[in-house]
Amino acid sequence: MLDLPISIEKFVSNLLIWYEENKRDLPWRKNSDPYQIWISEIMLQQTQVATVIPFYETFLKAYPTLESLAQAKESDILSSWSGLGYYRRARNLHEAAQIVKNEFGGYFPKEYRKAIQLPGIGRYTAGAILSIAYGEPLPILDGNVSRFLTRYLCLQNETKTTGARKLWDLLARLVETPPIASQIADFNQALMEVGSLVCAPRHPHCERCPLQDSCGAYNAGLETTLPTSQQQKTLRESHYTVALVSHGDSYLFTQSWQDTFLHGFWEFPRVQGRPTRHTIDKFLEVHGLNFEIEGEGMVVNYRITSRKLTFHTLWMTLVSPPSSSQFAWTKPGVAGYPTSPYVNKILETLDV
Ligand code: ADE
Repeated sequence: MLDLPISIEKFVSNLLIWYEENKRDLPWRKNSDPYQIWISEIMLQQTQVATVIPFYETFLKAYPTLESLAQAKESDILSSWSGLGYYRRARNLHEAAQIVKNEFGGYFPKEYRKAIQLPGIGRYTAGAILSIAYGEPLPILDGNVSRFLTRYLCLQNETKTTGARKLWDLLARLVETPPIASQIADFNQALMEVGSLVCAPRHPHCERCPLQDSCGAYNAGLETTLPTSQQQKTLRESHYTVALVSHGDSYLFTQSWQDTFLHGFWEFPRVQGRPTRHTIDKFLEVHGLNFEIEGEGMVVNYRITSRKLTFHTLWMTLVSPPSSSQFAWTKPGVAGYPTSPYVNKILETLDV
């Protein structure tokens, strides 16, 4: 069982004094409204703070209340989310808002066992929302907290799974103690903040750390070695071939159901793979589209958090018109047709 190397009182007071002096002025720290905290935590699940801030502010202007979100159209919510990535988060948020409205009287539930059942809410997110918005003494362990504690406790012989289990157990015990339970919202945010601002992944700023003296990794000279590389994610690469078919100033668009990451968006007809003969034949199989190739367009790279996507564009002419309602002649920005951001990137590159 893990334990802190110093008393809980000392640990908490060092951390919270530092937090009070150094915390960032973030828009979701202006109040503790559960709806607003919820939106921020969902956006922050896979996206960095600096990227989230403008999206968070625009999203709350569009959907200022839980009621307004529950009643919105999914395609409008996806448009507001466009650019943030991991769109399943937006769809889950919409579904969860409807459940909260219909089953919990419009108030985000205070009970962990209810919150954890909502779509898109796992142990971390439930703990973050309930501790920050309602002061519930629940633990949180995200990437920043995990890196900080792995170093602070000098955990060397754990896999990602065993390490996480031990850290969750330690935090679950700590948050029950009076010095932490009474200040849980600040405690949890202070842990995230020290992990993010001080205990940085590659170059930790140990000289600025409020817990430097008692840090196991610092004292052993292992602050840049831990956590070990088994915790580093690899970037997955995928190639796609994309058909550009123009008609006046519109393009042929379709709604992709092939990948979860673009589900619900309108985009160019697209198939998996580099533009070989075999790949191009898949347009008929997948989309029922009969093309003649006019020429090659640009190759566009697009990064989503843990994936690198490469889009190989081909200019095409249709041999026969598309038959199903899954297709439309449109262009980005037209209401009712939320387009994937990779589409805009391709159009910018083509200078049209
Ligand atoms: N990352 C996840 N939740 C956060 C929060 N509330 N503040 C700062 N960074 C975060």
